[in-house]
Amino acid sequence: MSNLPNPADMSLDECGQIFLSGDAFTDEHFFHTVSARLRKEAPVKWVEHELFNPFYMLTKHADVLEVELHPTEFLNAPRAILGDKTADSMREMQGHLVKSLVQMDDPEHRDHRNLTSDWFLPKNLATLQGRLDELAERSLQQMADAGGEIDFASEIAMQYPLYVILAILGLPESDYPRMLRLTQELFGPADPDFQRNPDALQGILETVADFVAYFDGITADRQANPTDDLSSVIANGIINGSPIGHKEQLGYYIIAATAGHDTTSNAMGGGMKALLEHPDQLARLQADPSLMATAVDEMIRWTSPVKHFMRTATRDYELRGTTIKEGQDVLLSYWSANRDEDVFENPYTFDVGRSPNKHLAFGFGVHYCLGAMLARMEMKTLFGAILPRLKKVELAGEPALSWSNFVSGVKTLPIRYELA
Ligand code: HEM
Repeated sequence: MSNLPNPADMSLDECGQIFLSGDAFTDEHFFHTVSARLRKEAPVKWVEHELFNPFYMLTKHADVLEVELHPTEFLNAPRAILGDKTADSMREMQGHLVKSLVQMDDPEHRDHRNLTSDWFLPKNLATLQGRLDELAERSLQQMADAGGEIDFASEIAMQYPLYVILAILGLPESDYPRMLRLTQELFGPADPDFQRNPDALQGILETVADFVAYFDGITADRQANPTDDLSSVIANGIINGSPIGHKEQLGYYIIAATAGHDTTSNAMGGGMKALLEHPDQLARLQADPSLMATAVDEMIRWTSPVKHFMRTATRDYELRGTTIKEGQDVLLSYWSANRDEDVFENPYTFDVGRSPNKHLAFGFGVHYCLGAMLARMEMKTLFGAILPRLKKVELAGEPALSWSNFVSGVKTLPIRYELA
């Protein structure tokens, strides 16, 4: 389908470079073939390229976990996400335009995380169930109205989690198109379908400026008229006795709006794609809805929508026989870790009953995804509403995956179906 090389012709150094662009993420088979080889032959792979500052790529589950479990030895700052040298030096010059939890380390991280962590506890999330049910019903109605053919990725999976985020932040539904565009631009700045500016970096700056203007308005409103939404917690946040900083406040809005959107969309779209590609598993889940919880986690393992985060070593650290030197960076490849033969029985089998399922798609340790419970609830609710009504379903065209090495997954999934 693509201009990707044949993995059999690639050197190990070329294999190590698959994170340097979004290409590898548009082709699951390619990514998994190359990462399986890295797990076997070079699990702690030093990656060098003239346009990028070097780093180690970690592809084994145990190594990703070990780094996540050592937040003092491996910091999120300064390089939480892979960018090229230009992006790295821009960040050094300007600092982060906004600062969110994923760019912070303890104790700053812990203080800021504590501000909203109660929001994401089951007790508060339970109050959202009614809204989730309504939104799932709406998605089902959309499928009924579409008359038997729909792009499940863009029409259902992309929209439902965004409505949930709007509800959590207390934003009006009329802001939906704007938020959709901004999050897609932020996470897929180089994908031609989502591109705002041919210069990807410039595009991100413009998108961030739009976010800032929008959320400054929300802050002013919630400071004057606080409600019980998440925006009010962020707008009126007190950290160690002082009001939360502007950069940190914006970082919070942005992470709440974005981290919970494209990620969950990709897990849902990719989950549906996996069910279509494994009709026996679809039938099994339809026959036994009590498998929904394990099915949802398997969809999340299978798609691993967040493809990487990075850490920087604070001291020399021995990992699988390699010394990571103080100041060197490591990239955590979640998708690869989640296919690790040493941890998962038949890792390439999509099994809706998989248990245990110790996937790392939500990360681990102090930065463990704050929205993991919410994401699972959303997915259970959507598939719980759709699957009992889905009499027949098949692919109606070629699926396409988005071009991004950060948050990526299926962006087009045409399906043909009959509803009961
Ligand atoms: C299937 C959907 C999702 C996936 C795969 C996912 C994945 C991740 C990953 C890998 C991390 C970094 C963890 C680490 O460094 O150890 C993370 C962090 C985070 N996620 Fe999610 N996420 C999802 C949904 C959500 C949702 C729905 C929300 C909230 C609305 C959310 C909010 C956050 C926040 C705030 C963080 C930062 C936590 C911290 O640094 O302390 N995520 N997520």
